[in-house]
Amino acid sequence: MPKDTLTITDNRTGKTYEVPIENGCIRTHALRQIKTGDDDFGLMGYDPAFLNTANCKSAITFIDGDKGILEYRGYPIEQLAEKSSFLEVAYLLLNGELPQQKDLDQFTHLVTHHTLVHENIKSFMDGFRYDAHPMSMLASTVAALSAFYPDAKHTRDERSRRIQITRLIAKMPTIAAFSYRHTMGLPYIYPDNDLSYVANFLTMIKRIGTTTYKVHPVLEKALDVLFILHADHEQNCSTTSVRTVGSSEVDPYSAVSAGVGALYGPLHGGANEAVLRMLREIGHISKIPDFIKQVKGGEGEKKLMGFGHRVYKSYDPRAKVIKRVADEVFEVTGKNPLLEIALELERIALEDEYFVKRKLYPNVDFYSGLIYEAMGFQAEMFPVLFAIPRTVGWCAQWEEMVKDSEQKIARPRQVYTGSGRRDYIAMDKRPSPQK
Ligand code: CMC
Repeated sequence: MPKDTLTITDNRTGKTYEVPIENGCIRTHALRQIKTGDDDFGLMGYDPAFLNTANCKSAITFIDGDKGILEYRGYPIEQLAEKSSFLEVAYLLLNGELPQQKDLDQFTHLVTHHTLVHENIKSFMDGFRYDAHPMSMLASTVAALSAFYPDAKHTRDERSRRIQITRLIAKMPTIAAFSYRHTMGLPYIYPDNDLSYVANFLTMIKRIGTTTYKVHPVLEKALDVLFILHADHEQNCSTTSVRTVGSSEVDPYSAVSAGVGALYGPLHGGANEAVLRMLREIGHISKIPDFIKQVKGGEGEKKLMGFGHRVYKSYDPRAKVIKRVADEVFEVTGKNPLLEIALELERIALEDEYFVKRKLYPNVDFYSGLIYEAMGFQAEMFPVLFAIPRTVGWCAQWEEMVKDSEQKIARPRQVYTGSGRRDYIAMDKRPSPQK
């Protein structure tokens, strides 16, 4: 009769242990009973970068990396991208179910009426140098919100949590747009409550010298779809940062600003910016074979940015949707001249044994930058455009963590590899360092 257990024999002692298997996992804490003697701390799992360790149970997002499946609360990403809207998806991620019309109206009203930021936030942002990266400004300003909303520390109070989540989702586009205007040396534009979430954001970015600026409906829809695709992606680096920082019971602004910091990195949300720089560096399709040679030959110092994923070992389903959105956007804006290089790069990489063997496919960041550039954003804004919708995922995951009775303050173990105990040596007695 098969049993949901794992039998482990410790060859050091000959003892056998039976460990329960639940949801395809063993609890690594169960290994602690495996000891060679009374002084032994017990066996631990060693898993740098969490390659095979689940850090939580989550009911928010499902990914099957081999099959290229992504679902939010069970709904396939392709259906949401086609039929839903970003705020409806935000409601779904936060509440677990699609809203009734009145719930969506109420949620939209709440988000729309929390978009303004305190005037001092403006002065705070004015303090940045003209050449500050907008993502650094975003991270710092989101952290500063914690100082503006001291009530946010009541993380055990559901009402307070929901107020902070609304504020975060609502104010993120405002802060993002202010960071853009700051780098461009343009006056900040206040949010307009009569516009949709995306149209309001694009207006705060684009409006110059007129009160009648109108967002093109195709671009509004395209950005809304991109926001849906970026809203959550289970336990990635930034979400894990939000959960880890939030596990100390700090307020969600501090936790989310850690997420923005993690997302900024070129291996994560900064990849879309890096893809564009890479395409510019390649410059012409005739240079692609040379570039691929460098990626394959180098000791990892050159990567094909926008390719590869820790979880997806087939085509990233988000990249498929993005390719379609790109066509719609280019109809309006004209084709991004870098598209030709991107398509040829993808074609060559998908046939090349190096990439095939390692199951490296285009990810969400490969084409998104081309769309953002065609829409008039400079590359530094790309990770910011990722952070706005991901705020929803961070908030949903943060709240799930706060409510999870199994969670505690995150505190991994280490394998100590340093010096053994030794006595302090006075300065004049220290041996000179070996050359
Ligand atoms: N170009 C060339 N080689 C690659 C790439 C790439 N983009 N990605 C992975 N490899 C190679 C890697 O060198 C390794 O080769 P080997 O087995 O010979 O040592 C093999 O593929 C396995 O890669 P890995 O580094 O062990 O994979 P990982 O799961 O640790 O890293 C990743 C995942 C996304 C960080 C990585 O694929 C990467 O750096 N990609 C480029 C950056 C990028 O596009 N990031 C966006 C990710 S999707 C959106 C998001 O999460 O923000």
